[in-house]
Amino acid sequence: MLIINIKELFGIRKKSYFLKGKEMSVLPSIKNAFIRIEGNEIVEFGVMKNLKSNPKVEIRNPNSIMDTKGGFVLPAWCDSHTHIVFSGSRENEFVDKIKGLTYEEIAQKGGGILNSAILLNETSEEQLFDQSWKRLEEVKALGTGAIEIKSGYGLTVEGELKMLRVIKKFKEKSDLLIKSTFLVHTYPIEYRTDHQAYINLIINDLLPIIAKENLADYIDVFCEEGFFNLTETQQIFEAGTRFGLKAKIHANQLKNSGGVQLAVKNNAVSADHLECIGDEEIECFSHSNTIPTLLPSAAFFLRLPYQPARKMIDAGLGVAIATDYNPGSSPSGNMPFLLALSCIQLRMTPEEAINAATINGACAMELETEVGSITLGKKANIIITKPMPSLAYLPYSFGNNLIEKVIINGKIM
Ligand code: NIG
Ligand code: FE
Repeated sequence: MLIINIKELFGIRKKSYFLKGKEMSVLPSIKNAFIRIEGNEIVEFGVMKNLKSNPKVEIRNPNSIMDTKGGFVLPAWCDSHTHIVFSGSRENEFVDKIKGLTYEEIAQKGGGILNSAILLNETSEEQLFDQSWKRLEEVKALGTGAIEIKSGYGLTVEGELKMLRVIKKFKEKSDLLIKSTFLVHTYPIEYRTDHQAYINLIINDLLPIIAKENLADYIDVFCEEGFFNLTETQQIFEAGTRFGLKAKIHANQLKNSGGVQLAVKNNAVSADHLECIGDEEIECFSHSNTIPTLLPSAAFFLRLPYQPARKMIDAGLGVAIATDYNPGSSPSGNMPFLLALSCIQLRMTPEEAINAATINGACAMELETEVGSITLGKKANIIITKPMPSLAYLPYSFGNNLIEKVIINGKIM
């Protein structure tokens, strides 16, 4: 496939690594470009005037040429934090929140995650697959080409395994690149007074099966007051390590509870949410390989303070952004909207937001050698936009669909 007359081709990189500080504001590009795809790989790109036609390909299939007529091309999004495998929805709680209840109050009343867990355990694996597959298709149409998906709505051995098996099937059937995370999300009601018994269940009954069936790449803990404290999170991370699972964490969403420091101490791949962080946490990240991942659509939906992205980047940190798509705090996997939100509310520049949503998101899933940039040999995961005046128009024109076509794994969607 040959894509021609690209107004500007963005995200070109020879080397793929996590971008930090000022590097985040640079999104290398070529104007008046073409890009050639063979199979599922990017094999050539450059300026139009240097395009030598490739008779072998073009004679075989003249339809393999696509004229973008002045559209832009970007690497497809890398959404490194989602919970898209879930059952049903929770718009009733959404209305309760409009009327004044907080996220914590809903959780204390047995709603929230527990509500989704009841539904999930009543849903068969096939139904769960079908419901969730629709979401995967939906985000693909919005330009997502690589995604991390977490469990955490089962809260029983069978429920968690059901979720992780659905994710495993997605990996087999989808064109998207997928990472799977076992999330230790909250306590089932029956373990409210005996947290340790639930942790023992995870360690003795769940982790051995997860490891044996190769159901997860990472282990994640919701480390927050009212959920898992620092000691419990540490214990779960250590057990995860014994079963070969690297750590990720939900940290500092509702309070500054020390989750960032714990993540860094455990060399977590990423620490996610970060609504409530200060100078100490920024300093802590700066001496680590743990990737700060911001989830601004959860802050938007729950009316929480936004993550201090500007301060973080100005202090030299790199960040990734992700949708957190889930039924309770971010019922949307819309990366173009996330981009707009990151620019408008987090004061990231369009270039910074796109880097955070592509190459840095890829790093947060350890997929940077395969996706996240326009690089020879990488997977052909690209977005073609409608004709636009400039790159900034994409987040500026928020809520409008400017995506013309999405190519994932070399196939037009
Ligand atoms: O990442 N913060 C914890 N977990 C999810 C929300 C879960 C839910 O409310 O269903 C999140 O925001
Ligand atoms: Fe989350």
